Amino acid sequence: MSGLCQGRVVVVTGAGRGIGRAHARAFAAEGASVVVNDVDGDAAAEVAEAVGEKAVANSSDVADWAGAKELIDTAIEHFGRLDVLVNNAGFLRDRMLVNLGEDEWDAVVRVHLKGHFAPLRHAADHWRAEAKAGRTPQARVINTSSGAGLLGSVGQGNYSAAKAGIAGLTVVAAAELARYGVTVNAIAPAARTRMTEGVFASMARPDEGFDAMAPENVSPLVVWLGSEESAHVTGRVFEVEGGKVSLAQAWRHGPAVDKGERWDPAELGPVVKELLERAPEPEPVYGAS
Ligand SMILES: NC(=O)c1ccc[n+]([C@@H]2O[C@H](COP(=O)([O-])OP(=O)(O)OC[C@H]3O[C@@H](n4cnc5c(N)ncnc54)[C@H](O)[C@@H]3O)[C@@H](O)[C@H]2O)c1
Repeated sequence: MSGLCQGRVVVVTGAGRGIGRAHARAFAAEGASVVVNDVDGDAAAEVAEAVGEKAVANSSDVADWAGAKELIDTAIEHFGRLDVLVNNAGFLRDRMLVNLGEDEWDAVVRVHLKGHFAPLRHAADHWRAEAKAGRTPQARVINTSSGAGLLGSVGQGNYSAAKAGIAGLTVVAAAELARYGVTVNAIAPAARTRMTEGVFASMARPDEGFDAMAPENVSPLVVWLGSEESAHVTGRVFEVEGGKVSLAQAWRHGPAVDKGERWDPAELGPVVKELLERAPEPEPVYGAS
């Protein structure tokens, strides 16, 4: 290992299993100290114990305002600083929209969107105070979006909306926090975990050779983004799966027609037709037939 994150202090949310656990181990392997958060406190404690003295467990619910503050305070009190926040925790409540209940909508939006914002906000408070005290941080936030958030996914309206929101939050946070020495990027991972065991069941772990769906494949990019080397990269979303890393292309302004005055609704049919002809086809929504 190269010691890419030697001496850095990292918070990883939802690190009791799956992709977050892989992140925690990978950061520790590169010399970082890690706060291993998971609302499943036993899972967090187990991971922290396996990592050793450079890890401490925290069992906050990341979407609870006070819990998220306690999580950020744990890093500062235990290790004396905070350099990297990896927002990763979350879960699914998949339903087609016609069956999706209010509680399933609220739970998924809460855990992903508020569960990203609350730790981000408390960490940003700390980094702003550091910057104002003349100790400009080399701080990093890595959020976790999803292909479902970037392209949409049938049966995951709540999750897709929350993960698209995370991509939106990422670009705003990157723009607002740059002045405090903080970069903010996001990943859209794919890996075989408890969350996706149904989806990726057909992609069984090979007996030997490269296991493309192992959660450990997602972590190297996150560790690099968490290092001081990535200072020039902010407001970006990377897809990462197996050995493949790709840079997602965000929404951007497309073909336009400007009449220079207000349209009459009846005029707009041919205008929209022309715009559709001039624009590339959107990529298909996952699971759409
Ligand atoms: N696995 C994939 O292919 C995939 C694809 C796209 C996005 N993601 C995203 O990656 C992240 C990690 O997913 P995973 O596949 O490792 O899932 P996972 O279920 O294996 O792990 C998620 C962890 O988050 C914890 N958690 C849930 N709610 C929490 C809360 N309120 N506070 C603290 N911890 C909480 C869970 O206890 C669990 O240990 C999620 O944000 C997920 O949406 C995963």
